[in-house]
Amino acid sequence: MRFSETEPAMTQDELKQAVARDAIAHVVDDAWIGVGSGSTANFFIDELAKIRHRIKGAVASSVKTAERLKSHGIPVDELNNVGPLPVYVDGADEVTEHGAMIKGGGGALTREKIVAAASRKFVCIVDGSKLVDVLGKFPLPVEVIPMARSYVARELVRMGGQPELRQGFTTDNGNVILDVRNLKILDPVKLETEINQLAGVVTVGLFARRGADTILIGGENGVRRIDVRR
Ligand code: 5RP
Repeated sequence: MRFSETEPAMTQDELKQAVARDAIAHVVDDAWIGVGSGSTANFFIDELAKIRHRIKGAVASSVKTAERLKSHGIPVDELNNVGPLPVYVDGADEVTEHGAMIKGGGGALTREKIVAAASRKFVCIVDGSKLVDVLGKFPLPVEVIPMARSYVARELVRMGGQPELRQGFTTDNGNVILDVRNLKILDPVKLETEINQLAGVVTVGLFARRGADTILIGGENGVRRIDVRR
């Protein structure tokens, strides 16, 4: 934390680390925890390792997360074996104060959405740069079955977006990602539903129907907490 104006500003990584540390207070003892993907989630895994004796283990939202958890000696199991979970902790690419998010910058959106759906509480951990009034500056990731790529892209153009295939990337589920710019996301729940319904779409990276319950935001003056009312 920054204590005086003369101290240098915290880096984005330091902010992510601070918020990851704060999220440990949301871990439920003697239970399995859902763990997300990305650099902020990685900091959380490093913190979780310090209290690993307090939990049964973790359900990972990506192969990379599973590997990092295991490298820290944290047991990893399948959601099918241990769900539902009390808590899911994950980062976001953008989040509003209402708990709606864009996720999938790292391409793990489908498993993230599944683990989030099977968890009672979603704790979103972000640095302050991710908090926005309106979603959509960050390109919206959409995971698509490969044979539906062109069809889905045309439909997304019809909706006003500019989809671009994420080059050289295959998801943990063997699919491709279209990153969509230029969408006006004024009603995230409606758009999430519409894109989800396109044939060939596996998951859209809008997390609004099941958004975050608690948002922890790392800033220069400490970690701010928002509990979302529904
Ligand atoms: C991965 C995600 C991540 O949560 C999101 O991309 C944020 O990543 P980072 O913490 O590295 O900024 O959705 O699919």
